[in-house]
Amino acid sequence: MNTSVVILAAGLGTRMRSKRAKVLHRAGGLALIEHVVEAARQVAPPQRIVTVTGHQADQVEALLRPSGVRFARQKAQKGTGDALAACRDAVAGQDGLLMVLYGDTPLLSAATLLRLRDAQAGSDCAATLITTALNDPSGYGRVLVDAQGNVTAIVEDKVCTPEQRSIRIINSGIYCFCADLLWKHISEIQPTQPAGEFYLTDMAEILTRHGHRLQEMRIGDPSELLGINTRIELADADRILCRRKADELMLAGVTIERPETVTIDAHVRIGTDTVVEPFARLLGSTEIGEDCHIGAGSIIESSILADRVIVKPYSLIADSRIASAAQVGPFSRLRMHADVGADARIGNFVELKNTRLGDGAKSQHLAYLGDSQIGDRVNVGAGTITCNYDGEKKHTTRIGAGAFIGSNSTLVAPLEIGAESYIGAGSVITDSVPEQALALGRGRQVVKPDWVAKRKKANPKKP
Ligand code: UD1
Ligand code: CA
Repeated sequence: MNTSVVILAAGLGTRMRSKRAKVLHRAGGLALIEHVVEAARQVAPPQRIVTVTGHQADQVEALLRPSGVRFARQKAQKGTGDALAACRDAVAGQDGLLMVLYGDTPLLSAATLLRLRDAQAGSDCAATLITTALNDPSGYGRVLVDAQGNVTAIVEDKVCTPEQRSIRIINSGIYCFCADLLWKHISEIQPTQPAGEFYLTDMAEILTRHGHRLQEMRIGDPSELLGINTRIELADADRILCRRKADELMLAGVTIERPETVTIDAHVRIGTDTVVEPFARLLGSTEIGEDCHIGAGSIIESSILADRVIVKPYSLIADSRIASAAQVGPFSRLRMHADVGADARIGNFVELKNTRLGDGAKSQHLAYLGDSQIGDRVNVGAGTITCNYDGEKKHTTRIGAGAFIGSNSTLVAPLEIGAESYIGAGSVITDSVPEQALALGRGRQVVKPDWVAKRKKANPKKP
């Protein structure tokens, strides 16, 4: 049966105590609303998914636009019933089933939504809603069920009688309606006093009053239904999403040591037999190949690592690439399109910014290499610095293949250093160096024999 999905995401989320709309807060590496859209896309094509926006609508729409979903705006946030009514024009003519999701339930799985659709499609009910039993149902709407098991009403936490408050069956905020019955009766929702909000949950009572049946689809694992209202729940969702991702990767052949300490964002990909040590954070669109080793405490964001790469502990890698069998770290920093060649070595306290380091090249200790093109097999000695910034502009340093840069060299860009040339340790290099040359740019050493004795003689009081 044709299914459309509406995602309500117009609210501010007062209980977050944030300047940012609730659905833009992140868990598991994505905004809350992105998780819901990803699940919805397994149920309906993007042109049949409408997100209702309001608070910070521009930001929410900009975030979701690439997914191809459509939008409807709710002018004032007058409750979930009003929010759904706001998309009436957007889904006009789309008959069949209308699934309604809330943008603040990021743990929802597509499998559950497909089950919901099938439960509604195979019934003669006006709607099916997902429910679960919670030990602590506070904050959620309670579901009232008659002797036949039909849902007759949903009572919001705020307005529960003491007796109703003890009901443990809660409304998840996930519904599948028969679209024409919903639209026929939605205008019967009355504003609640004193806030004047229109509660979508009133539809249960309204449809029942018109002689229609509503059924519940009760779910055993309530973690999927967690609605994020506070930052504590946000942290819970993040932990659950992270654990799910880690489990998925472990089942696919990735070793994760102490997974409860590791953060791996939803879209990260990792090849088999890679080992991830404790407290690693693998973020954004990062892709890691097979047989890699990611050291403890390393943070890798939106970067691509080929097979057999070793990242030793406490390295920071962002927006960069590392080719096969290269080694990085401990305590290395790669950023802004650093590009490390195959079998290259980068050691402790080395920073690469917008720099290509060729295949088999080495920079093992204490260096800053910025805006540089460094050829294959170049050896960069400890303490080497590229002076890429003159106070106004950035300049490039080019080092040809096989060159040897002595320790503590200062390379003042723009600069070309020819292939297989040598730079003497401690040099300040300001002029280009041809291939196979030796360049020295330092004061000459002066040795004064017996200097101490001579000084004592001239001035006996000196120590
Ligand atoms: C809602 C349900 C409650 C259910 C709970 C499940 C209602 C009245 N109550 O309560 O029964 O147990 O979810 O998590 O529906 N929104 C809008 N426009 C508005 C108001 C809200 O788009 O005017 C959106 C929000 O952005 C949010 C979603 O609807 O994504 C739910 O709103 P929220 O205020 O969190 O509802 P709850 O009080 O949690
Ligand atoms: Ca909520």
